[in-house]
Amino acid sequence: MADFLSAYSIQSWLESCPQGYLENTEFGHPPGESEPELLLTNTVLHEEAIRTTVQLVLGERCALAASSGLINAAPDEASKRFLATQTLDEARHVEIFTKRLYDLGVRKNELESVIQHHANRNLVRFAEVLLEKVDKKDFVSGVVGQNIVLEGMAFSVFEMMQSLNGSINPKFAHTLSGTIADERRHVGFGENRIGSLIKDHPEKKPEVERLQKEMSYYMLATFADAFRGNPAAAEMDQLGRGNMHAEWHGVDLATMTPEAMENVLADTVLKDFKMRLGRIGIDYQTPVRP
Ligand SMILES: [Fe+2]
Ligand SMILES: [Fe+2]
Repeated sequence: MADFLSAYSIQSWLESCPQGYLENTEFGHPPGESEPELLLTNTVLHEEAIRTTVQLVLGERCALAASSGLINAAPDEASKRFLATQTLDEARHVEIFTKRLYDLGVRKNELESVIQHHANRNLVRFAEVLLEKVDKKDFVSGVVGQNIVLEGMAFSVFEMMQSLNGSINPKFAHTLSGTIADERRHVGFGENRIGSLIKDHPEKKPEVERLQKEMSYYMLATFADAFRGNPAAAEMDQLGRGNMHAEWHGVDLATMTPEAMENVLADTVLKDFKMRLGRIGIDYQTPVRP
């Protein structure tokens, strides 16, 4: 518990995050960076950037609701304090991705209607399944759903986006790198804290396994909606990718079809779930493939 206390304390959060990798940033990136001109002027790419960012805002709003809701469900003080730091991280993520929508030209008074319009129905269901557990103050299911499933997904999605944007949109890639560092901490907490609770409450296992299977299905359905027939990929093919490279997990994303990218992402996230769940004593359930 001593290591757990120091690794997930408010003190170490202060040192590594606000006084560490976020120092001298503004909404997650170095001051003065802006979205590339092409994203603002090409209507297909512009629409796609807004649509993608809306899903990030939705995912982070869910994480904010879940991490804050779980504070009062946590059985110990150290977990409550960690979740308080996570709550602030998630609120920051909501803020920086909302700011990106404004940078892309969304007006403040249309924010909620733009989010409504672009919200992916499967991602909304994914969030509802998790928040039902949080509302019932079910700490074990809530932490697995949030800190392993939701954040495992977010971690890989952000990494993939960071790789795709590294050479063409440094502002967005930099914004993502701070969130990736945060998500890594959150996923680590889930694994460290929940292992012993599962041991103490083996009767929770079937319910947690059902939750993982259900959330994984909605996640895969969200990926399918995002990649299959993606108009921005066709637009980039037309414009030419020049000598753009985007290495991720041993493949070059810049040369792949959207369908192949969907497969790489889904396989990466599911493999990650399997490994992490195995470590905490949960049997990974293969979701239905949409
Ligand atoms: Fe987040
Ligand atoms: Fe997170």
